[in-house]
Amino acid sequence: MKNNLIKKSAVFGLLLSSFLATAQKTNLTVDLTKSVAKIQPTMYGVFFEDINFAADGGLYAEMVKNRSFEFNVPLMGWSQPNSSTQSMNKDSGIALPMQASADRLNDDFCRVTINNDKVYQIINEGFRGMGIKKDAKYNLSLKAANHDNAIKKIIIQFIDANKNVLGETMIVPSSSDWKDYSAQLTATAAEAKAQLKISFEGTGIIDLDMISLFPEETWKNRKNGLRKDIVQLLYDLKPGFIRFPGGCIVEGMTLDNRYQWKKTVGPIEDRETMINRWNVEFKQKQAPDYFQSFGLGFFEYFQLSEDLGAQPLPILSCGIACQYNSGELVPMEELDPYVQDALDLIEFANGAVTTKWGKLRADMGHPNPFNLKFIGVGNEQWGPQYIERYKVFAKAIKSKYPNITIVSGAGPSPDGAMFDYGWEELKKMNAEIVDEHYYKNPEWFKENAARYDKYDRKGPKVFAGEYAAHPKGVEDGFKENNWLAALSESAFMTGLERNADVVHLTSYAPLMAHVEAYQWAPDMIWFDNLNSYGTANYYVQKMYSNNKGTDVLSITQDGKALTGQNDLYATAAKDVKQKELIVKLVNTSAKAQELTINLSGKGVKSKGEMIILTHDNLEDYNTLAEPTKISPVEKEYKVSGKKAEVNMPANSFVVLKLKLK
Ligand code: AHR
Repeated sequence: MKNNLIKKSAVFGLLLSSFLATAQKTNLTVDLTKSVAKIQPTMYGVFFEDINFAADGGLYAEMVKNRSFEFNVPLMGWSQPNSSTQSMNKDSGIALPMQASADRLNDDFCRVTINNDKVYQIINEGFRGMGIKKDAKYNLSLKAANHDNAIKKIIIQFIDANKNVLGETMIVPSSSDWKDYSAQLTATAAEAKAQLKISFEGTGIIDLDMISLFPEETWKNRKNGLRKDIVQLLYDLKPGFIRFPGGCIVEGMTLDNRYQWKKTVGPIEDRETMINRWNVEFKQKQAPDYFQSFGLGFFEYFQLSEDLGAQPLPILSCGIACQYNSGELVPMEELDPYVQDALDLIEFANGAVTTKWGKLRADMGHPNPFNLKFIGVGNEQWGPQYIERYKVFAKAIKSKYPNITIVSGAGPSPDGAMFDYGWEELKKMNAEIVDEHYYKNPEWFKENAARYDKYDRKGPKVFAGEYAAHPKGVEDGFKENNWLAALSESAFMTGLERNADVVHLTSYAPLMAHVEAYQWAPDMIWFDNLNSYGTANYYVQKMYSNNKGTDVLSITQDGKALTGQNDLYATAAKDVKQKELIVKLVNTSAKAQELTINLSGKGVKSKGEMIILTHDNLEDYNTLAEPTKISPVEKEYKVSGKKAEVNMPANSFVVLKLKLK
């Protein structure tokens, strides 16, 4: 009797648990038979802006700050610890900024008078220091004019905070006229905060300019090129496009301060240094030493796009300065040069080498066209003034280059009167692609997974050009790239992909930030002078971009798309070339969830792959010390028949890949 009772209660327990398990299982259906929409190759791209020291001090591997003495304070970044400005060594020497003839574009240089060569030195501090690696080689170049050939040697050394020498080289300045010199240093130790010390043998006067230092190892080992580790992170994303050079930097605080691409091409030494608009934008994040050398200019952006296999997407000023700042307007009758800049840019990118701008591209080393397909007019503009100016650009571009797709903008917010006005007007003009921006809290991202379900299928296409979840109340900095923010973006992105017929381009923003010199957070990639890492948000982007597919398929629960019911979000795609089914699933609940995916139509092979991104703490984030704490794990996955069982961990983003039969 007792035994019977035990048996009965055990059976009841089993039944109950299997009933509960069944009750918790969610049944989804993927229809493999028909393609709902095409996914554009440009679907997942990157947004590059020179903000947070992303160019000088970041991607552009130059290690000397203010190499040509063009900052507003001409010796910023340079110090002369034993100079006559210091009482101890009154007569050792002095460096003074000078201006060359006004017809030289980059016209400042430094005149150094050396009275005591045992003592005098000038030091460059780099961009919050210089990161050097043991045994790595660094290429130095400079211009010098050695008055009366008085100086016998220029000695160049890496030093650490205690003035220990960590590598050195020297140059014999052999001409009293301006002459180019180069030399190589090998670092004898690793140091995150090295500086570059320059001292002299001989007394007299020497003029110096363009004192430049690059690691020998750069991306593709291009001379004076880009930081290899950072480009590698971009390359690994397999981005469909690169939007450059911003952002608000396109517009400028005033029109004078706008980004002008023509000033960023041609010989590096002739590119005019300009204040970076993020220099003093935020009171609490002042960066008085933030300038643009334009060593990373439009040619280099095009070249980078080509290296990454990404479409270049340049955005140009439309004649309105940042409307958060001056909002300065170029009068309509003076708009021509701005429009001409756009037409000339297309010629620079695509024109024959016999054209003026195509020839410059060829002279810079790229006779083949860059195959530009898109151009953006204005960044975050709004109001009738934008529409008025956009019309002029659109007419001029389309009549000369009908095959170029123009990207217009809907302003800084994803809704509201100005957003609606912009969209309405752009629709009337049959605009092709409209750029939308949204920096919102994680809840907004989850709640807006169905945002594009309602968009007009016949209207302009969407470029979700700048977005990022900003977690509420999180201290500014890399902590803002927490798992909650990234997870909510992964949920939102299911809606981008499901609506790929409307949404043609998307990019998280901003792209990168120096851990000691940022103005804006969160950002997708963080770096210091030696290392870089991808945030949890980076891995979300990578999982989408690397597993994009070519065609959207329908994935439903009870006939409805998953847009947050039971904290579940989903999108499905097929990759026609790879013959693959790709299902992206997001669980934003604190509980694991079991799913059964019923595959209707074609069969799949039994062995597949599952990529899982999850973490137990929503407030956690990656750091330089733990760069992959939150990163995807890949597993083999087995499916039997036409039912795929997936156990979604709490707070997880899963990509399931199955080969089609
Ligand atoms: O991504 C940072 C800034 O945000 C961009 O410069 C601007 O377009 C937006 O307001």
